[in-house]
Amino acid sequence: MGLLTGGLTLSALPGCAALAATTFRPERGEIRLRLADYPGLDRAGGSMRIRAEDTGELYYVLRQDDGSFETVSPVCTHQGCTVQIAGRLLECPCHGSIYDLRGTVVRGPAERPLRQAPTRLSDGRTLVIQTAETRG
Ligand code: FES
Repeated sequence: MGLLTGGLTLSALPGCAALAATTFRPERGEIRLRLADYPGLDRAGGSMRIRAEDTGELYYVLRQDDGSFETVSPVCTHQGCTVQIAGRLLECPCHGSIYDLRGTVVRGPAERPLRQAPTRLSDGRTLVIQTAETRG
């Protein structure tokens, strides 16, 4: 079985591009994403919306200027609205909080950063995103 164990589901709806996400089934609390399959992540500022099939949680995978990757929950830490990707920033439509691509608050009223999902590059080609606590 390939890296996409849960199959690929694209939930793009006309006029609802912000809600489009690719659904993955985590294995042992991790989503494995082969970069070659997702060219949107091949450049700084690139992004991808993913959803964990088991919890239904949405995440944004964000390519940083230094080539690294961050994965954040789009749930605004102010009052829970869903932030939107706007160029190199994440903007909350409810009260105007702004975060950078690492989820750090740039402008309030939010005071805390977006929740991060630990993300690492494995074998130089596969992103491994931890979407759940794993216990050894
Ligand atoms: S819920 Fe995001 S700024 Fe208030």
